[in-house]
Amino acid sequence: MSHAYLQCIECGHRFPSNREAIYACPQCGDLLDVVYDWQDADADRLKTLFRQRRVSNAPIDVSGVWRYRELIPFYTDEAQIVTYPEGNTQLLDAPRSAQYAGLGRLTFKHQGFNPTGSFKDNGMATGVTQARVLGARVVACASTGNTSASMAAYATRAGMLGVVFIPEGQIAFGKLSQSLDYGALTLQVRGDFDAAMQLVREVAPQVGMYILNSVNAFRLEGQKTIAIELLDQLDWRVPDRLVVPGGNLGNSSALGKGLKELYDLGFIDKLPRITIIQAAGADPLYRTMTSPDPDRLVTVYARTLATAIKIGRPVSWKKAKRSMTWTDGWVTEVTEQEIADAKAIIGRDGIGCEPASATTLAGLKRLLEEGTDAPIDRDEEVVAILTGNVLKDPDYTVRYHLGDLYEDYVTETVVTSRSGKIDTHFANHPIEVAANAAAIIAVIERHLAQVAPV
Ligand code: F0G
Repeated sequence: MSHAYLQCIECGHRFPSNREAIYACPQCGDLLDVVYDWQDADADRLKTLFRQRRVSNAPIDVSGVWRYRELIPFYTDEAQIVTYPEGNTQLLDAPRSAQYAGLGRLTFKHQGFNPTGSFKDNGMATGVTQARVLGARVVACASTGNTSASMAAYATRAGMLGVVFIPEGQIAFGKLSQSLDYGALTLQVRGDFDAAMQLVREVAPQVGMYILNSVNAFRLEGQKTIAIELLDQLDWRVPDRLVVPGGNLGNSSALGKGLKELYDLGFIDKLPRITIIQAAGADPLYRTMTSPDPDRLVTVYARTLATAIKIGRPVSWKKAKRSMTWTDGWVTEVTEQEIADAKAIIGRDGIGCEPASATTLAGLKRLLEEGTDAPIDRDEEVVAILTGNVLKDPDYTVRYHLGDLYEDYVTETVVTSRSGKIDTHFANHPIEVAANAAAIIAVIERHLAQVAPV
């Protein structure tokens, strides 16, 4: 089995991976990667092995993370592995979304099909496994809602206590309900995500909690398998572009690392361009990359209805930048209006997603409209990652269709003033009818006469 180490992305120092919880380089304080001295990683042999595992019923073969375990070999014993199982998220053809963006074809990989409804499950499978390797009993995270939902579920299934720090009143109710139901100690911090993140890092060492935010390099190893599974599903044909929303920037970091490793190990012979999309009100990476000094993070006070990505000081920004460098990638930003409309179009494809995920389609549309400056072609093969399930934030969706969505609406519990109305260009307004068959038939007939089939 390959040996694993933690390695600083900046100074390159290596540290043992299985002795103690470390999240930053003890030498220089920068982010860490899990790295391996690869053995038994022959691409052709592993491609065949991964395929064969699809007919197995063993949970570690069924899992879309652990099926690829030779590419995430940081554990020492298979008995340590934690799995729901997760992954196995489908590729979906989305013709209406493609047409909306101006693309010939568009495929979504829907991470919302995961057990707790988001891509975080891929990362928790490995993060909680590492917690077990280290003998941790308590795990913790700061979250805009999905990390906490996922961690809460995996922690209780692994017999650990989960402690979640969430910004009070700023996460979608679907996500809050998951954390409560799965029995996590749920701390509603009076502050934003960035404050909650800082508090987790301060408190964790004092009370022995193992941190499962994306600053934890082992969690990103699981998220890396989203790229591996995607390529396996495409029979290892490499798309031109991979589009992801950017929040704390763990996912874009993980995908970049996974793709680079696949390339270096000879699984693929080119890299898809990682294209990161941020909300315009929470766009620190975009601002950093367009600033005169892109080596210094430009932080922002984040504001967006896509609460999942309401983050102004992203932990993994340097790794996300590295992903863009490795893959000749790109970052752009989109407005609240663009996100809301794109989400409705994804819904019309019969797919649906949460607001943060819809940045992908909005970003593609914007890049294509930007024309000659934008390095994108309408005939490219594009895969966009939908990060979360439509049922995570139904309040947003219903408000959109009712024409009641405002930029400064935050959640059910915190409504500030009423300005910045989002136009509902693709609204599907519900119609109130009398409980009477004749009245209902009249409404249906009127509707059929007016609306061409979609
Ligand atoms: N999409 C969804 C649905 C998310 O929940 C998140 C992040 C992102 C996109 C952005 O991914 O942070 O890796 O760049 N959610 C985190 C959370 C922050 O706490 O659930 P990222």
